[in-house]
Amino acid sequence: MSDIKDMQIAAAVPGDLPAVLGLLDGAGLPRAGVTTNFAQFLVARAGPEIVGAVGLERYGVSALLRSLVVAPAHRGQGLGAALVERALDVARLAGIERVFLLTITAVEFFRRLGFRDVPREGIDLAVQASGEFVAPCCQSAAAMRLVLRGARVALVPRVHLHLKVTDLARSRVFYETFFGASPVKVKPGYVKFLPAWGPLNLALSDGGGSPTPRGGHLGIQLGSREEVVRELARIKAAGVPVREEFGVNCCHANEDKFWVQDPDGLEWEVYVLNHDLDDEPVAATRGLGLVRPASCCTPGSA
Ligand SMILES: CC(C)(COP(=O)(O)OP(=O)(O)OC[C@H]1O[C@@H](n2cnc3c(N)ncnc32)[C@H](O)[C@@H]1OP(=O)(O)O)[C@@H](O)C(=O)NCCC(=O)NCCS
Repeated sequence: MSDIKDMQIAAAVPGDLPAVLGLLDGAGLPRAGVTTNFAQFLVARAGPEIVGAVGLERYGVSALLRSLVVAPAHRGQGLGAALVERALDVARLAGIERVFLLTITAVEFFRRLGFRDVPREGIDLAVQASGEFVAPCCQSAAAMRLVLRGARVALVPRVHLHLKVTDLARSRVFYETFFGASPVKVKPGYVKFLPAWGPLNLALSDGGGSPTPRGGHLGIQLGSREEVVRELARIKAAGVPVREEFGVNCCHANEDKFWVQDPDGLEWEVYVLNHDLDDEPVAATRGLGLVRPASCCTPGSA
């Protein structure tokens, strides 16, 4: 058996998935939602072997800690606690304020780490809709919560937008789906979102509909093509109409992107910048799409 000092906890890579599913199966923990959210898993390695895992699914300023597992031969050395602490570090860095979990077998284990029992009804709707929450085997599980001290979202730089919308209920549903997160504040005539994957503080309030700003659009720039593809798959699976543009030249850059439109017609692009076009001929191509002159920067113009 490896000593915990020889183990490394790090972000999971796609090739770790079969080993993690094997650990979960062995411990009788559900697989639901694991593959979809595997980019948000941490694994513990002892040399080439995966000996532990934990997932942290983010939903706005809340997160679901799930799938904590340590291989039987490596239990009792502090690895389970170390995986939880590392996941909580990740949560704090991401501005998460509340971490929830479901457990049938390990209530006392998590109490020792500071988690407290909460009624399931008090948990954010987006967390309640997660794969683990709706899995049949978890219906009788206890819900627990840890409030993270010092996790102040206000410290994370975010662009603030306040949009007046025609139909607040409809817009709320759209942005819940687009961001994959519940609002962090709901008041009469007002909701606020702090999406986990965009540096954005978006408030919506009743009031007639915001026109597209000066004929333009809004957007979220992500760090990689993989992130764009992941968010695109999630949003398409939720039934939101999207327009995909991969490898387009736009705004003097080559980008992979997709567009969605809110209920008032406001266009959002979600994109990654592949490379700038300053020194390139206008007709250069890359990626999946046909390329147009660099001045197109509106949905559907590529
Ligand atoms: C729960 C689990 C991750 C703990 O991993 P671990 O590496 O053994 O945990 P640690 O070494 O950090 O902590 C061990 C301590 O927790 C206690 N502990 C371990 N599992 C426990 C459980 N299910 N309930 C209560 N206490 C538990 C141990 O008795 C030990 O206590 P001690 O320090 O007083 O001796 C591991 O037992 C496991 O994978 N279990 C099966 C999967 C599971 O139940 N996961 C939780 C799903 S929500």
